[in-house]
Amino acid sequence: LASLSTYLKGCLKQYPNFPKEGILFEDFLPIFSNPEDFQKLIDAFVLHVKQQFPNQKIDYVVGLESRGFLFGPTLALALGAGFIPVRKPGKLPGKTHQVTFKKEYGEDTFEMQDSIIKSGSTVLIVDDILATGGSAQAAGELVLKNEGAKILEFLFVMELDFLKGRDKLQANTFTLLSGQTEKLQ
Ligand code: PRP
Ligand code: MG
Repeated sequence: LASLSTYLKGCLKQYPNFPKEGILFEDFLPIFSNPEDFQKLIDAFVLHVKQQFPNQKIDYVVGLESRGFLFGPTLALALGAGFIPVRKPGKLPGKTHQVTFKKEYGEDTFEMQDSIIKSGSTVLIVDDILATGGSAQAAGELVLKNEGAKILEFLFVMELDFLKGRDKLQANTFTLLSGQTEKLQ
């Protein structure tokens, strides 16, 4: 797992001063443009989940719109789990649950379809990056609105650890490419 992580870290591309001055943006999209690298990303997460939860059935992977959709469904299939999207507001049909959370500027809302998670299910929540933790915490709240749902873990590709987002989350948190991956210059 350590060697896979080191390899994948090398696939990230750095963009200074994006999306604004003083931020070094770590782009993980190059991983998806190469099928072998994409496979390694999925393998690394699967390896971690098998180590962390041996003999545990994973019922659902919950992915956060948008960037959590890039690999959430693929990871779900690899784990033999279903995929459930957490979407930005107004996109999902039928009855939904909503949670509003704080962003760096202003607020945002996430939605999940009602009763989509069966009682007693085990869930992994995935996204590309953990920053303040507001998005993932809201996704966690949505999952926990389903009676008997159990969040086994939150999984991210990257983390801005100095923002301490993981302190907000309702379950154990794993970051594949651990540590601070985006620096304030
Ligand atoms: C980014 C990122 C995470 C979230 C992390 O998404 O993809 O989902 O921010 O921030 P937080 O921990 O402070 O909540 P963004 O809302 O920029 O949109 P996108 O995924 O649609 O690109
Ligand atoms: Mg996002």
